[in-house]
Amino acid sequence: MSLRLLSWLLLLLSLGLFRHELPGARADSVTSPSAAKTLVWGPGLEANVVLPARFFYVQAADSSGRNLTTSPGEKTFEVKIVAPVEEFTRIWIQVLDRHDGSFLVRYRMYATYTDLHLHVLLKSKHVAGSPFVLKGPVYHEGCDCPQPSGSEWEAHMHCPQSFPQIDRDLAIYSGVDPDANAQEIPQRFGQRQSLCHYTVKDNRVYVKTFGEHVGFRIFMDAILLSLTRKVRLPDMEFFVNLGDWPLEKRKPTEKIHPIFSWCGSNNTRDIVMPTYDLTESVLETMGRVSLDMMSVQANTGPPWPGKNATAFWRGRDSRQERLELVKLSRAHPAMIDAAFTNFFFFKHDESLYGPLVKHVSFFDFFKYKYQINIDGTVAAYRLPYLLAGDSLVLKQDSGYYEHFYNELRPWEHYVPVRADLGDLLEKIQWARDHDEEAKKIALAGQQFARNHLMGNSIFCYYYKLFQEYAKLQVTEPKIRDGMELVEQPSDDLFPCSCHRTRVKDEL
Ligand SMILES: *[C@@H]1O[C@H](CO)[C@@H](O)[C@H](O)[C@H]1NC(C)=O
Ligand SMILES: *[C@@H]1O[C@H](CO)[C@@H](O)[C@H](O)[C@H]1NC(C)=O
Ligand SMILES: *[C@@H]1O[C@H](CO)[C@@H](O)[C@H](O)[C@H]1NC(C)=O
Repeated sequence: MSLRLLSWLLLLLSLGLFRHELPGARADSVTSPSAAKTLVWGPGLEANVVLPARFFYVQAADSSGRNLTTSPGEKTFEVKIVAPVEEFTRIWIQVLDRHDGSFLVRYRMYATYTDLHLHVLLKSKHVAGSPFVLKGPVYHEGCDCPQPSGSEWEAHMHCPQSFPQIDRDLAIYSGVDPDANAQEIPQRFGQRQSLCHYTVKDNRVYVKTFGEHVGFRIFMDAILLSLTRKVRLPDMEFFVNLGDWPLEKRKPTEKIHPIFSWCGSNNTRDIVMPTYDLTESVLETMGRVSLDMMSVQANTGPPWPGKNATAFWRGRDSRQERLELVKLSRAHPAMIDAAFTNFFFFKHDESLYGPLVKHVSFFDFFKYKYQINIDGTVAAYRLPYLLAGDSLVLKQDSGYYEHFYNELRPWEHYVPVRADLGDLLEKIQWARDHDEEAKKIALAGQQFARNHLMGNSIFCYYYKLFQEYAKLQVTEPKIRDGMELVEQPSDDLFPCSCHRTRVKDEL
């Protein structure tokens, strides 16, 4: 049968024209979900989990309670959110089909509501425990209404007891001295680096910058302001490195200064935070950022068997190994499709590295089964998004790390590749020869991202880090000369009335 004829037949079938002639033709493989057995859960069903974009999950299940493993259709579930006492609700809702039988529902609120009723509907029928009632006040992201008790906030957020990376980073300090640091750190790093000195006092944020290139402080300001709107932070004083490279190279036997950085390395002792990229994507989810940990889950390309078994990479020339990777790809095009979208750091030699290729949408990466994660200037900040997809990540061994690498396990969440890429071809071949195992690792990596790298986890990490760090302070944090107040953005359009009592300082 010719392809054209086949597609005509498929079209007719989908129009239902052959339904009488071919009663069994409608594939039975996609079972239909049952309203009673479908599962709904997640932080977005709880009033006290305030996030820039709230979210919850829907797992479709059939009438016998079996989970569906393929999509029953993008429009299967309808979600409505209403605040009964309000005339209008300004809430933007998206139902994201994860194509594995589950859905991610996210919503961004532009005002605070007394009570919210969440309706999750399947053909106009309520699903599972729907409607879900959030007893208010249900605060929106912009509402400056901190929970006075940090431990209560952590309990509401279901934060983990501890983060191994925080424990490790702070273990080298028996104490930190804000008075001494305020003198010494600017002397050591203030001239050549891009540094911010922050003080949080009475839950207000103050800052002084050092160096010329301090534009990236907007990310740090934003997360601090967002946190102080949600929970009362301890008084503290700390330095943030806005540059790519971690700074503190001293050995544990020397005097080490605490510097907060977005990337850590085996040779430095900086305290790592979630990267500015991941932080911004959390704060701007359903805002001006289009790639975030939720949108990526709805754009993971074809299912595993339909993915192209060539390993894929796109990026710019920010490291020697990236040049090696592209050369390797040109020598083995059937194994690796790696190409540069930009040349910036090295001289572009087209005979060695080929022409620049057009930028590829990140979501299109997932047309490929194997994703190569290779360092750039420092760690490649795309790893959270790569893990959240349903491809297998081949991760280069690296001296650089982000805040969550400590909890990732080679062969469980990703396939490790030597730092010099010497075994990359071999590892791709392994994955091709062990398809079931490769798929299992891909899904474990995805599960890791779903469990550890969503917005609630990022807020928990920052809070825990600040809390643990603050406990180490041996002198009182102060608002230093030259510091300015970082103001909350004014939200005149949607002011919030905070019902929480403002407690006096617990001294
Ligand atoms: C169905 O999916 C939910 C959510 O992922 C999971 O917790 C549950 O164990 C699954 N049930 C079965 C029977 O596999
Ligand atoms: C898989 O991807 C490679 C590299 O992008 C391409 O050359 C090849 O044609 C693709 N294979 C299929 C079956 O689409
Ligand atoms: C960095 O340290 C980690 C953890 O100890 C180790 O697994 C890794 O091989 C090191 N990588 C490099 C390139 O130094």
